[in-house]
Amino acid sequence: MDKLLITGGSRLEGEVRASGAKNAALPILAATLLAEGECVLSNVPHLRDVTTTMELLGRMGVVLTVDERMHIHADASRVKNFEAPYDLVKTMRASILVLGPLLARFGEADVSLPGGCAIGARPVNLHIDGMRAMGAEISVENGYIHARAKRLRGIRYSMETVTVTGTENLMMAATLADGRTLLENAAREPEVVDLAHFLNSMGARVQGAGTDTIMVDGVDCLSGCKHHVLPDRIETGTYLVAAAMTGGRVRVRDTRADLLEPVLAKLRESGARVDTGNGWIEVDMDRRRPRSVNIHTAPHPAFPTDMQAQFCALNSIAEGVATVTENVFENRFMHVLEMQRMGADIQIEGNIAICRGVEQLTAAPVMATDLRASASLVLAGLVAEGDTLIDRIYHIDRGYDNIEEKFSALGGVIRRVHT
Ligand code: UD1
Repeated sequence: MDKLLITGGSRLEGEVRASGAKNAALPILAATLLAEGECVLSNVPHLRDVTTTMELLGRMGVVLTVDERMHIHADASRVKNFEAPYDLVKTMRASILVLGPLLARFGEADVSLPGGCAIGARPVNLHIDGMRAMGAEISVENGYIHARAKRLRGIRYSMETVTVTGTENLMMAATLADGRTLLENAAREPEVVDLAHFLNSMGARVQGAGTDTIMVDGVDCLSGCKHHVLPDRIETGTYLVAAAMTGGRVRVRDTRADLLEPVLAKLRESGARVDTGNGWIEVDMDRRRPRSVNIHTAPHPAFPTDMQAQFCALNSIAEGVATVTENVFENRFMHVLEMQRMGADIQIEGNIAICRGVEQLTAAPVMATDLRASASLVLAGLVAEGDTLIDRIYHIDRGYDNIEEKFSALGGVIRRVHT
């Protein structure tokens, strides 16, 4: 099995390119099921979750090709199978995103339930509830969601919790529904906005994405289009935190500062100099040790839960004491247990991690437990004394494009080993 071997202590310096956003690419790939013509997607990141989604769509009959510029062509004109089977869904919860498009266009979907997840219960009740409200007949049997509908109808639906993929699923379903849908308490994440842009390029009529009320006027059919996926703000943030932790200076290009405001504010608070320009962000810690920062996660535009683990890593070696409060997911502190094995002084009380910065972490063999937790262990490894070996890095490969190459280009000592 592949592992990452990291020798800590190098100061990161240089420039790295942000890949396209995983959390935008996945719903956009699912949305290609809605089109009667060919969709062409650029800036799709090279990740295992993307490959899994392509395999899922391929099994349904979507014809997918990758051209010499690495653009993905998706043609859903001959879809004949409406099932998302357990063997694929279990590896990637975002597979649930095919439910809305399949039901809206073909009136039929059988999607395996994602099941438990390492970072908490993560139910999909609101996806199901919303589609039932749109007129779908849905039963859950033998671990599958069986959904049928003649034509979905537009509704007014207020989501009881802010859910990103739930908002995306219902927004996609509404594009082909009969009449107007109003989604209230909608997620405002930039990836929801990118999906709305894609849907509108296909001929959908979506307004208000990026606010908490999204209005969709259903149309009869959608056509193919071209789309460039927006940059990955979480990947961007991960490299910037790495710069701050190593006292380094890193510029991330092909990214957007407006997507990361709460993260950049925390980096400034930690003592880093943050400069931004057209398509780039630079963090300069000027060989200093960061100061610890308090974090409260919440839905966008607040601080993203997907950056929580990385800031736990920063706080673990920063000057001072700070708390990290996780408000979105229960049980999202598994990385802390691994960091403690590297000498971090972090205590967990419910959904709060109390971090007392230590001067130096020490390397240890550690285990990646989920996607963002794994990234935080890479950050910890980059500053620890000695060689850190990270096991189960398939979690990292789900969401980080070429992580070891990108860190190596910045001067990190990191390589993939087969054991
Ligand atoms: C998405 C992101 C993930 C990110 C998360 C929160 C994708 C592919 N993944 O995940 O990286 O960490 O948003 O920003 O975009 N909930 C319910 N019922 C539901 C759905 C959700 O109670 O039907 C709850 C969840 O348990 C959780 C909260 O809502 O506590 C937010 O989850 P949600 O926004 O749905 O996360 P995902 O869309 O799965």
